Amino acid sequence: MKFKRNILITGGAGFIGSHVVRLFVNQYPEYHIINLDKLTYAGNLANLKDIENAANYTFIKADICDFNKIMDIFKQYQIDGVIHLAAESHVDRSIKDPFTFAQTNIMGTLSLLQAAKLTWESLPEKFENKRFYHISTDEVYGALKFDGTLFTEETKYQPHSPYSASKASSDHFVRAFHDTYGMPTIVTNCSNNYGPYQFPEKLIPLFINNIRRGKELPVYGKGENVRDWLYVEDHARAIDIIFHKGKIADTYNIGGFNEWKNIDLIKVIIKTVDRLLGNLEGYSLRLITYVTDRKGHDLRYAIDSNKLKKELGWEPSLQFEEGIEKTVKWYLDNQEWMENVTSGEYLKYYQEMYENK
Ligand code: NAD
Ligand code: DAU
Repeated sequence: MKFKRNILITGGAGFIGSHVVRLFVNQYPEYHIINLDKLTYAGNLANLKDIENAANYTFIKADICDFNKIMDIFKQYQIDGVIHLAAESHVDRSIKDPFTFAQTNIMGTLSLLQAAKLTWESLPEKFENKRFYHISTDEVYGALKFDGTLFTEETKYQPHSPYSASKASSDHFVRAFHDTYGMPTIVTNCSNNYGPYQFPEKLIPLFINNIRRGKELPVYGKGENVRDWLYVEDHARAIDIIFHKGKIADTYNIGGFNEWKNIDLIKVIIKTVDRLLGNLEGYSLRLITYVTDRKGHDLRYAIDSNKLKKELGWEPSLQFEEGIEKTVKWYLDNQEWMENVTSGEYLKYYQEMYENK
């Protein structure tokens, strides 16, 4: 079957990637969606069960750092668009193991850029109708004070953690490929996402699961750090709009205008889980445990996404109360998913399935 476009989505078995893959597979039957993922601990094909047999979907287990393989995939599938999400994404892991973050986030991105460049330059039409869209984070901007300021697209890069330093470096490489070779690139920097299928090392799914099991809730420091939360499907919708209508070489910030101090957010999660489990209000507050702060813990992130609203008409569609209710319900209703993830069962299952492919 001949498709109108062949789009490579990297990291599609992860949290945000799986929502992006699902949206594109369902919304664009005329596109071939090629999901390339290494299936690290964070990649779980159970996140895509509902679309795995779709006629316009192909999964490839591969490492973005494997340049030769990436070159083959570009040629074989005649890739004309890339939405690059594959990355090591957890700040705490980057503090313990910065090398893996530099390898995947920097060298992996470079390998994709170089494969796209070499493949597209060898075609008669070259970069025409091509697009390399890199998904990045607001953490590259560093940290804000409690002064009401927001990160804009002009805020200077000042990453603090090994994770954000590696993402900042990959953003610079993407822009360098535009400025040096004329590659049609776009970068977006998004705030904290939440919603279904997030790996339970991240605050929201970890705490929902711990409350359900009556386990301690480890609050870093005094719980005063602030994050700006966006429902993951709203991010996926922004990615769709920007992939199709975003200006080449441009940058867009994506955020929810939804700042929460960690401890206040944690109390909302406790209240919601207790209500849905039929516990007395406040029952799980006893699980809050203040622990040693994260090293170099950024105080506050907050995104100004007005440019995206003004230029491309995107706004978050979900109120936070609605989003958190949906999210808590999803984790409570999908205990099999959670148990497969926390036991490591999913790794054995999918990694064995793809071992010799
Ligand atoms: P995630 O950790 O849930 O998923 C990452 C995916 O990338 C996994 O499926 C993993 O298997 C895959 N992967 C890792 N290394 C790979 C490699 N070498 N080759 C191929 N695949 C590999 O991450 P996420 O939270 O979904 O984040 C996705 C992207 O969005 C990342 O680039 C992240 O920096 C960015 N981002 C995340 C957030 C957030 O709140 N989660 C916010 C802004 C930006
Ligand atoms: O801002 C975007 C970033 O958001 C993404 O680029 C990252 O990939 C993503 O992981 C996320 O980073 P954070 O470090 O903000 O997310 P995390 O869920 O790890 O932590 C949210 C806040 O909660 C942070 O201030 C640390 C705190 N925290 C986290 C955990 C896991 C705790 O207090 N206790 C915990 O156990």
